[in-house]
Amino acid sequence: MKSLLMTLGGALLALSINAADLTGHWVAEQRLPNGPVRETSVWIKATGNAFTGYLWNERQGNQPIVDGKLDGNQLSFVVVTDNFGEERRQQYTATLTADGLVLHLPAFGGRGAGRGGRGIQPDLIAKRVSSEDPPPMRLKISLGAPPEVKPNGLAKSPPMGWNSWNKFRNQVSDQLVRETADAMVRSGMRDAGYVYLNIDDTWEADRDADGNIRPNDRFPDMKGMIAYVHGKGLKFGIYSSPGPKTCAGYQGSFQHEEQDAKTYAGWGVDYLKYDWCSAGAVYQSASMPAVYAKMGQALLSSGRPIVFSLCEYGAMKVQDWGAKVGGNLWRTTGDIRDNWESMSNIGFDQQNGLEDAAGPGHWNDPDMLEIGNGGMTTVEYRAHMSLWSMLAAPLIAGNDLRNIPPEILEILTNKEVIAIDQGTLGKQGKRVSKNGDLEVWSRPLAGGQYAVALFNRGQSAYKMTLRPADLGLGQFKKIRDLWAHSDTPVSPEFTAEVPSHGVVMLRIEGHHEDNRF
Ligand code: GLA
Repeated sequence: MKSLLMTLGGALLALSINAADLTGHWVAEQRLPNGPVRETSVWIKATGNAFTGYLWNERQGNQPIVDGKLDGNQLSFVVVTDNFGEERRQQYTATLTADGLVLHLPAFGGRGAGRGGRGIQPDLIAKRVSSEDPPPMRLKISLGAPPEVKPNGLAKSPPMGWNSWNKFRNQVSDQLVRETADAMVRSGMRDAGYVYLNIDDTWEADRDADGNIRPNDRFPDMKGMIAYVHGKGLKFGIYSSPGPKTCAGYQGSFQHEEQDAKTYAGWGVDYLKYDWCSAGAVYQSASMPAVYAKMGQALLSSGRPIVFSLCEYGAMKVQDWGAKVGGNLWRTTGDIRDNWESMSNIGFDQQNGLEDAAGPGHWNDPDMLEIGNGGMTTVEYRAHMSLWSMLAAPLIAGNDLRNIPPEILEILTNKEVIAIDQGTLGKQGKRVSKNGDLEVWSRPLAGGQYAVALFNRGQSAYKMTLRPADLGLGQFKKIRDLWAHSDTPVSPEFTAEVPSHGVVMLRIEGHHEDNRF
């Protein structure tokens, strides 16, 4: 009976609708798990059964609607988005009901998708807040060419530390920070080189009457907490976005860049991760370098040395300009997830070719470590640590350090592997051969040495062989296995069995071809 009534109701509604009923401003609000409200707006101008207009959301701002059609109570339309300089057209559908306009959102994914990778988004119900014709669509800000920002002299080797996001998401708090600081000292992480303790998104509340950013109630005493971290011989890092909102919907730094940089300096902050997030809603993509330069300059003028970490998912060829806008590191990919596919895809397939951009003071950042978060095996985590070290990547642990299993601690604190990552020459490694699932990566080190990693991406163990000529050497002089912590007997070639998803990582000294004579 109920379903019959609903069917009849739907049919009546469908009959009574004509497109003119759509014209106006429709607003949907979504409360996010930790407090903030996320808005999506649709402005529609209907004529007959066709409509135009634009859609607004926090991440992308205004996006034109084309091909809008109404059929009964069903809407279909295409939303045109500037996706980091490339036009993206996405098909939307919606249903007009007695409750409002039910928006069926397309699957969310791709570069900058944030935490989830590809995912289904829940329907949103938009209520009409006005029946007026839409005002003209506001254009996004264009900043023009970025000013060059002087190097800050920091991060001579890839930054090492810990960040709250991968494990704790929106659960980061004062207590967690203090306990993690204690744990970093107790576990030996600090002494192995992990000195930055960084909080990620969700620490922010709102701004006071003078526009100063205020932490939320999980951080009652930011200055005191940071002093505690400093007291442990550690440094402290914070997070923001150049947009009005962060990726998790919290307060960003838009139009408060200098003020925020001064606030951070006043609190004792040593590191800022600056995440594009909603900046695309207010700025044209082409302005990204200038947007980052603004904060780069603000940090430089803040009176405190602050490492500047750019987080822009590898968009807009960041490796070509990241260092010029004051960046010490820049993300080269979307978000890592704690599984072999995500880690290996990022590490093996998306980094090769970027090596020339890296060097002392400015590094490619393939995202933070997932070691110890439970989604990979110990063998896979060893490959993760090895690959990041071959890449001269920042080593930012992302697991719970308060209770760290010995085999995970051993991976994170392998001094011989860390020494490769931190190598003074600062040259990022690259792939020297690929044979199906088997890859050999090499990285030149100071003093004519090489780091070499034999990776097996396949499903079963394989024997892999390395010859001196693979590295341009005449013969091997010394080979040290960095996971076994032992020198291996030198022979004309080196052969080892590499486990599935595993690695054999070596430090090699050799005689160059032309030194043989
Ligand atoms: C983006 C970043 C992540 C993390 C989250 C926080 O997805 O790429 O590393 O900072 O935002 O919301």
